Amino acid sequence: MNSTIQLRDIKLNDLAIFYEQQLDPEANYMAAFTAKDPADRAAFLAHWAKIFGDKSIILRTIMADQMVAGHVSCHRWFGEPEISYWIGKDYWGRGIATEALSKFLEQVPARPLLARVAKDNMGSIRVLEKCGFKRTGEDKGFANARGREVEEFIYMLE
Ligand SMILES: CC(C)(COP(=O)(O)OP(=O)(O)OC[C@H]1O[C@@H](n2cnc3c(N)ncnc32)[C@H](O)[C@@H]1OP(=O)(O)O)[C@@H](O)C(=O)NCCC(=O)NCCS
Repeated sequence: MNSTIQLRDIKLNDLAIFYEQQLDPEANYMAAFTAKDPADRAAFLAHWAKIFGDKSIILRTIMADQMVAGHVSCHRWFGEPEISYWIGKDYWGRGIATEALSKFLEQVPARPLLARVAKDNMGSIRVLEKCGFKRTGEDKGFANARGREVEEFIYMLE
């Protein structure tokens, strides 16, 4: 199915949708490095307050056929600029992440850009590779969504 994908600035009302989207257990397992308890609304809001307060973050809402499908962002929390994204499950499998990320990369000039992905998150790995990211390393860390240490790949776009 082809959807019309657009990126726009985030609106406060988007948060209620992002909250619902980040509750999904399968999505959490995939992403692995997630909130400790996605159902903790206060922690969710505190996290987004931190994001809104950080002027170095570039953040876009992903619109698919005029609906809020997810978000994509670039932060510098670990030093280098690093991207992340989340698509609501209702919108998976339509090429939305790939198109949204390639549009986002046109708006974010910083290079190199890093991305981290759990080694078994095949969807996200495919999205990164389709957008030109190359695997440059690996790491591991405690993943809240799995309650254990999880290995991840580091990807880079030069
Ligand atoms: C991973 C995620 C972003 C993929 O979004 P999407 O819009 O469904 O991705 P696309 O439709 O653009 O798919 C891109 C490619 O990945 C493949 N793919 C998508 N999900 C997949 C999965 N679960 N397993 C294997 N391949 C998958 C698609 O088939 C497509 O490949 P193709 O072009 O060769 O056919 C989405 O599932 C998501 O947000 N998951 C939860 C949060 C997350 O993991 N964020 C990333 C953290 S690093």
